Amino acid sequence: MTALLKVEHLTKRFGGLVAVKDVSFELEAGEIAGILGPNGAGKTTLFNLLTGFIAMDLGTVEFEGGSLAGLAPHRIVNRGLARTFQLCRPFRGMSVFENVSVGCLAPRVRHSGGVEARARRILGQVGLGAKAATPVDALPYGDLRRLEIARALATEPKLLLLDEPFAGLGGNEIEPLSALIRKLHAEEGLTILIIEHKLREFMQLVRRVIAMDFGEIIAIGPPAEIVRHPRVVEAYIGRTEAPLGIA
Ligand SMILES: Nc1ncnc2c1ncn2[C@@H]1O[C@H](COP(=O)(O)OP(=O)(O)O)[C@@H](O)[C@H]1O
Ligand SMILES: [Mg+2]
Repeated sequence: MTALLKVEHLTKRFGGLVAVKDVSFELEAGEIAGILGPNGAGKTTLFNLLTGFIAMDLGTVEFEGGSLAGLAPHRIVNRGLARTFQLCRPFRGMSVFENVSVGCLAPRVRHSGGVEARARRILGQVGLGAKAATPVDALPYGDLRRLEIARALATEPKLLLLDEPFAGLGGNEIEPLSALIRKLHAEEGLTILIIEHKLREFMQLVRRVIAMDFGEIIAIGPPAEIVRHPRVVEAYIGRTEAPLGIA
C-alpha cells in the first residue's frame, strides 16, 4: 500500500540554524496523527515545507506517489493538500461566506452544486452557517479558527494540516472544536496531521504522534507511549523521571 504522504530526509536551514533536520515519516490515507514538540522545534517550518511556502534544502516529499518538489502552494492545494495557519489569516474586508467561496474556486473542486451551495454546506459543517454574511473583521476569535478550517475544507483536501487549531481558545471552546476535527476524520474520511500544544486534547484526538525537538524527530508512536518516552519527557520538562501525566 502506498503512503498518502511520504517524507524523506527533509531538511531546512535558516543561516546557521537547522530548523528541520533529516525528517522522514509517512502518513497512511485515513490517519489522524499529530506533531508534538516545544516552541521552536520546527513544526511550523515542516508544514511550510510540505505546503510549498518555503523551499526545502534537502529531501523529498511525495503525495499520492508524486513529488511535490518545487511546486507553488496553490499547486500543492490543487493536489489535495491543504493547511491552516497558527495565526488566523482570513481575507480581511470580506464576509465569512466570501472567504470560504474563494477556497471553492480551487480547480480541483468539482462544482456539482455550485460554489454557493458548497460554501454554505462547509459553513454548516464547521458551525458557522448562521454567520455567512458576517464580515470576518467582526468575527470572534473562536469563529476565526473555525473559518480557517472551513477555508481549507473548501479546497476539498485529502490531507489537512492543522497548525495549532486550539491556539488562543478558551477552555470551553476547545472540546467542540476537537469534536469537529474528530468528525471530519471519522465521517469525511479526511487524513489529518495536527500540530498542537494543548496536550490533553491533542493526545485524545490523534492515534499516532511524531515528536520533534530542535528540528529532529525524536520519537514516533501512539500517544500513550509518547508521553512516557524519555526523550519527549526530557524535551518538555528537562528531566527523565516523570511521565507527562496526560495519558
Ligand atoms: N523564516 C525564518 N527565518 C529564520 N528562522 C526561522 C524562520 N522560520 C522559523 N525560523 C526558526 O526556525 C525554528 C523553528 O521554528 P518553527 O518551525 O516556527 O517552530 P515551531 O512551530 O515548532 O514552534 C525557530 O528557531 C525559528 O526561530
Ligand atoms: Mg509553530
